[in-house]
Amino acid sequence: MRFFITGGAGFIGSHLSDRLMAEGNEVTVYDNLSLGKKEFVERHFSSPKFKFVQADLLEFDKLKTSMEGSDVVFHLAANSDIIKSAKNPKIDLEQGTIVTYKVLEAMRANNIKKIVFTSSNVVYGEAVKSPTAEDYGPLLPISFYGASKLACEAVMGAYCHNFEFNAWIYRFGNIVGKRPTHGVVIDFYGKLKKNPLVLEVLGDGNQSKPYVEVHDCVDGMLFGLNNSHEQINLFNLGTTGAVYVKDIADIVVKEMGLKNVKIKFAGGVRGWPGDVHTVRLDVSKLESLGWKPKYPTSREAFSAGAKDIIEDLKTQDL
Ligand SMILES: NC(=O)c1ccc[n+]([C@@H]2O[C@H](COP(=O)([O-])OP(=O)(O)OC[C@H]3O[C@@H](n4cnc5c(N)ncnc54)[C@H](O)[C@@H]3O)[C@@H](O)[C@H]2O)c1
Repeated sequence: MRFFITGGAGFIGSHLSDRLMAEGNEVTVYDNLSLGKKEFVERHFSSPKFKFVQADLLEFDKLKTSMEGSDVVFHLAANSDIIKSAKNPKIDLEQGTIVTYKVLEAMRANNIKKIVFTSSNVVYGEAVKSPTAEDYGPLLPISFYGASKLACEAVMGAYCHNFEFNAWIYRFGNIVGKRPTHGVVIDFYGKLKKNPLVLEVLGDGNQSKPYVEVHDCVDGMLFGLNNSHEQINLFNLGTTGAVYVKDIADIVVKEMGLKNVKIKFAGGVRGWPGDVHTVRLDVSKLESLGWKPKYPTSREAFSAGAKDIIEDLKTQDL
């Protein structure tokens, strides 16, 4: 199979590239390296089955040409700085919604009909039903990032209806593992490198989210793609339970081998405007198809992923 991955040099995309290459597929990674890194995928550069295109999704002609001959598009590229975009709605509109429209149009021009999309649990907003299942509504996201993900899902649904596309849409929990480009662990690690005595935590520390180890995330996406054949295949991709931010702070401190760190909570129930305080996902739909993550609880997934991240960060200069 020939796979095209937008954002394939990023955190999740590079793990997806590894897996698809290991299975003998042809892979094109299309990434502007705004956050991703060449080093994350350069182990594949010597393979004739791998192609790397450094370009932006807003460059439509380049996108259309690069996509030629692909069977399936994995669309992962998006803005990942949701704290910054909370102050500037244009970021997610452009780097989420408009780039997704460009991807769908490039697919249409190339007669490619299968898209896998990385959405997020944030589309549920502050859900009153927990754990939240895929059929929950009304969907009222509270962040521009979430609004953009929901808009992308909606546009994809219309392409499925009007142009006979098939879509696999995954609403992720928080993903953890090697090669992080952003997120709470990297944030705490950076702060503690600067000041190993005090760690400032955004919010009250009681925010809690489900976590998925990155190899499980890739495995779940491929499992759904191979085992679900509706026109629109919509799944939560998560784990049971959640991890609290205050516990994440303790885990990072411990993994860094630090002692006597004073943890200071900035206060308020959210980390930033648009941060959903409490998330629990109903993950039974994908699991009912037979998928089993290696780390089925958030606690197990987080511990495994955080250990890998900190090992990774220790080898870099932050
Ligand atoms: N990491 C998580 O916890 C999480 C949770 C929910 C959803 N997601 C979604 O999964 C996807 C992948 O996330 P990730 O954590 O790997 O993020 P990431 O930032 O590491 O990867 C995104 C990649 O896209 C590239 N990119 C961004 N804008 C681009 C553009 N206009 N043109 C070309 N390339 C561009 C970046 O350089 C980066 O390599 C994203 O869509 C994200 O919203 C991630």
